[in-house]
Amino acid sequence: MNPPRISLSPPHLSGAEQAYITQAFASNWVTSMGANVDGFESDITFTTKCGYAVALNSGTSAIHLALRILNIEPGDFVLCPTLTFTATAAPITYLKGIPVFIDSEADTFNMDPDICEETIKKMILRNKKPKAMLVVHLYGMPAKIEKLLRLSKLYDIPLIEDAAEALGSTYNNQACGTFGEVGIYSFNGNKIITTGGGGALVTANPFLEKRARYLSNHARELLPHYHHQEVGYNYRLSNISAGIGRGQLSVLGDRIAARKRNFEKYKKYFQNNEGVNMQEAPDSLFNSNRWLTSILLEPEFYKKADKNLLMDSFEAANIETRPLWKPLHLQPAYKGFPFRGGMVAEDLFNKGICLPSGSNMRESDFERIFAVFETVQKVLLGA
Ligand SMILES: Cc1ncc(COP(=O)(O)O)c(C=O)c1O
Repeated sequence: MNPPRISLSPPHLSGAEQAYITQAFASNWVTSMGANVDGFESDITFTTKCGYAVALNSGTSAIHLALRILNIEPGDFVLCPTLTFTATAAPITYLKGIPVFIDSEADTFNMDPDICEETIKKMILRNKKPKAMLVVHLYGMPAKIEKLLRLSKLYDIPLIEDAAEALGSTYNNQACGTFGEVGIYSFNGNKIITTGGGGALVTANPFLEKRARYLSNHARELLPHYHHQEVGYNYRLSNISAGIGRGQLSVLGDRIAARKRNFEKYKKYFQNNEGVNMQEAPDSLFNSNRWLTSILLEPEFYKKADKNLLMDSFEAANIETRPLWKPLHLQPAYKGFPFRGGMVAEDLFNKGICLPSGSNMRESDFERIFAVFETVQKVLLGA
């Protein structure tokens, strides 16, 4: 019989969720309004010190709204990292904007601020100034936010933070998601905490908060009849999902601590393996929630076939692993959109593997993972 599956990042319920859900049922508030939605929004505001939070039905809809409230229009350029999940860039195309994909930097894996600056300068010279910058804190690691903020101010280009993977990560003690004009979080099932499916938009600007809330509810005017000056969306979170979120947020600190412990365990194990590198914080100001731990199999030591053998061996042992995100400029869906940079993101994709990183991992799970790695090492060394 197969051993139980070790998933990459499964939900980890705390037990505190049930009381909030029961209360929603008892009060008959099971729809997109209610005490849990209000409570969840104030919990997010308190946790991140963001100013205002709008609970939404996904991180993707939060990005869509962020772009909409910053008035991204057809033909507008938006700088965006190439190494990310499709949901970062897809909403740019919903609005018929043009994503300009930017290469990664090797240490944090995030959007390279130097390439951003070079691109902004060139685009301004051609009268094509980007309308926004959309930065991602990949796998929980803060991007070089100080440099990116400097560019945002210097060139007057608003900054949006896709912190879908980075709830609880900080840079210089400030929450990722709260540096730019607008930030977003995801509460998808694989994230550090979940609402089953959901997201949030955060901002310090009360005008943007009101606008996001209005558009998330079909742009419905405060009139007795249904009156719409413009087209909106149905992006609200249900009171049931928000109840799950409230219970989950109450254990965020524990979840972060567990993910950090996972990272340290992997780091300790791999530090003696020549040719295996990891995503490292550039300095102590970068505080990652370590949502997913990944390893890089350096090509001087490991061939592509070796990486495939390792991933197949994990799968045969019922252990889920994934390559790093495939860069978006290499995806057929984004063919024809500009890309600036070199081979950093593509190299990371070619050599990177995300390892199981759930906050509910047990010691025995690590033993199984390391046993597979050791067996494959022996095969590769011909031992
Ligand atoms: C970087 C990034 N951006 C956006 C999203 C979209 O979030 P959601 O799945 O909640 O729509 C995700 C995750 O799913 C993500 O990892």
